Amino acid sequence: MTRGFGPARNAGSGRELPLPPFQPLGLTVRSNPLMAKPLNLIVACAENRVIGRAGRLPFDIPEDKAWFHAKTAGQTVVLGRICFETWPKVLADGRQPVVITSNRALARPNVRITNNVPDALAVAQTLPGEIMICGGQRIYEETLPRCDRLLLTLVHAEVPGDTFFPEWRHLAWRETWRREGRDEHYRYTFSILDRQ
Ligand SMILES: NC(=O)c1ccc[n+]([C@@H]2O[C@H](COP(=O)([O-])OP(=O)(O)OC[C@H]3O[C@@H](n4cnc5c(N)ncnc54)[C@H](OP(=O)(O)O)[C@@H]3O)[C@@H](O)[C@H]2O)c1
Repeated sequence: MTRGFGPARNAGSGRELPLPPFQPLGLTVRSNPLMAKPLNLIVACAENRVIGRAGRLPFDIPEDKAWFHAKTAGQTVVLGRICFETWPKVLADGRQPVVITSNRALARPNVRITNNVPDALAVAQTLPGEIMICGGQRIYEETLPRCDRLLLTLVHAEVPGDTFFPEWRHLAWRETWRREGRDEHYRYTFSILDRQ
């Protein structure tokens, strides 16, 4: 995933971007170990729901890359093969990938492989940290209806692309956090949305 490219730096300044504190779901610290971990879905999406173009992100927003890296560091990341293969930092910062693919040759000691979403989520439940679902399209489509939290970067533009996020605006959400941002190309909103 091209969102993984490059360090999380402020364009032009060379400084690390400040990141907001992340409040984990209350359910994350469970008194009952049998209780399933919540499913967090993280995405950067244009107003026309485009998320990708030719295997890359359709926009290059340093603040969003910083956000994405911070939110997935140390967590279990569930993702498709293309996202896995195009995200250089997927194995950095303590991330534990669960890759959905028919290509079992991608398996390594620290890379779990499954060939469907339900199995991937079952494996993810056994791993430490939060479960962060990172796309691509089919994986978002299958998991959006059952996700507990959406970490959404909504890019306020219509951009060309070939990969889409499913419509989420008709579902019932409670926005628990929001921050506006902009760079020289885009205006965008970071939101944390909990399913009602
Ligand atoms: N803006 C964002 O936040 C964001 C997030 C993620 C991705 N993206 C963009 O989206 C694009 C990549 O996403 P993508 O949807 O094209 O690819 P992808 O989901 O990363 O990878 C597709 C491959 O993963 C496997 N796969 C995916 N869903 C599956 C399912 N439900 N069941 C079984 N196997 C499944 C298959 O692997 P095999 O062929 O190996 O069997 C499939 O060919 C890129 O452009 C990327 O930059 C953007």
